[in-house]
Amino acid sequence: MMAPPTNTTASSEDLATDILAALDKSQPLLSSDAFPSATFVDLKAALDRLASREMVKYETIERQEALLEPEAEQIAANGSHEARVFEALRKAVEGLSVKELEEAIGDKNVVKIGQGKAFKEKWISKTKDGKFTAVADKINDTTQEQIKTVQQTKTHPDPKILADLKKRKLIRTQNIFSFKIHKGPKFALRIPEEATDLTADMIASGAWKTATFKPYNFKALGATQNGGALHPLNKVRQELRNIFFEMGFEEMPTDKFVESGFWNFDALFVPQQHPARDLQDTFYISDPKAADFPRADSPDDTKDYQAYWDNVKAVHQDGKYGSIGYRYPWSGDESLRLVLRTHTTAISANMLHKLAATKGPDGRPLPARYFSIDRVFRNETVDATHLAEFHQVEGVIADYGLTLGGLMEFMEIFFGKMGLHDLQFKPAYNPYTEPSMEIFAYHKGLGKLVEIGNSGMFRAEMLESMGLPKDMRVFGWGLSLERPTMIKYGISNIRELLGHKVDLEFVQGSPAVLLGQE
Ligand code: PHE
Repeated sequence: MMAPPTNTTASSEDLATDILAALDKSQPLLSSDAFPSATFVDLKAALDRLASREMVKYETIERQEALLEPEAEQIAANGSHEARVFEALRKAVEGLSVKELEEAIGDKNVVKIGQGKAFKEKWISKTKDGKFTAVADKINDTTQEQIKTVQQTKTHPDPKILADLKKRKLIRTQNIFSFKIHKGPKFALRIPEEATDLTADMIASGAWKTATFKPYNFKALGATQNGGALHPLNKVRQELRNIFFEMGFEEMPTDKFVESGFWNFDALFVPQQHPARDLQDTFYISDPKAADFPRADSPDDTKDYQAYWDNVKAVHQDGKYGSIGYRYPWSGDESLRLVLRTHTTAISANMLHKLAATKGPDGRPLPARYFSIDRVFRNETVDATHLAEFHQVEGVIADYGLTLGGLMEFMEIFFGKMGLHDLQFKPAYNPYTEPSMEIFAYHKGLGKLVEIGNSGMFRAEMLESMGLPKDMRVFGWGLSLERPTMIKYGISNIRELLGHKVDLEFVQGSPAVLLGQE
């Protein structure tokens, strides 16, 4: 607004009390008159404070102010150029030459402009010998009068004159904001203490009866609230779910982390001495000590679990369905030990066992496509790429007449939707699949083939124990959710993705990904 005060800068606190004191004497108050040196920002802050307490009411007034340019300052003091020329000539009875006029006035410019205008006004004329001479008796220096009006009132009542002075570059205008201030309903000379909260103490002491409460400001923007953000793993998970759904898969219920050894291992024909079942690889649960015997989890599950249990025992211990088995004494207690599931294939086994009870139009179990994406646990040494837990993406296809070539073809299509092409397959070993294949794809970033999954055709020992017919074949494959997520988001350390070191800003700021697109 105006130049800042030179001596002391009043704080908004002081300014607010000053405003109250000034209002007490007269109102309405125009801030530009009452506080000419306060800045707009300080005034507004002080007024808002008072207005929120209804101590004052104010409105903002915008007006134009006219200010003199340096040339006009001169005119105000000494008269217009033409008037000065006239004045000089009036004093010289004989008239003056240009040179003499310049000497008398002391400013060539004033003479140059002034004599032209004085001619026009018919205040002066030229003598025969070429000198200037005054012809009027008395003149009216209107320009000076106009400028003096502007100087005193910062404006001129005639807008035409104002515009003309501006055009002649004698004045400039600027917009001035000021405040018109009135007393409010709660006007007082001091700002009362305002309570922001009703406290237990205030109720106990009765202080609430007399306290002034700060009114709610419903227009306040409030603190920024963080909406929930999906973790990158969840975003990739959703992408993968969409791929499964569009390929006709049904999602398996994986909402349990603890399994019995029966479903996690025995049902999958993993022998009880297998290293995967070691404490070094698997987390066992100590309490409760043992799982319940495998049983139906819904009334419409009419399968004979005892028969299934017996089949599993037989196929491990003595061999069955044309298999010679592992030929070791199979332990029911070992099978009932509780583990943190090491793979979601435990759920697949459970689902396939239920599938064996379904009957299609031909009386045989129905073909099925199942998938799941959920957490599994392994007793691993934690390093940059391994944690003791990860998310497994698992797919299972059960149908008649499936072949290994069909599995490879399917993998090309499935991983193709994730942007991974030209797969390579490497023979591998899983106790529950034969043949088994590791799946590799070329990783552009790393410039090499990386393992992206494990797959195979489930063994007859596993499927026939469940009661699935001999000619029903089942593909299965698994991969980690973390691997594609780390590749997509360019993360090299798994601890940036999971655990206490995860940066929430990374979670909140990561965009969704489209698998299969660069
Ligand atoms: N369970 C396997 C793993 O943990 C994945 C898999 C599932 C392999 C089904 C073959 C069939 O790696």
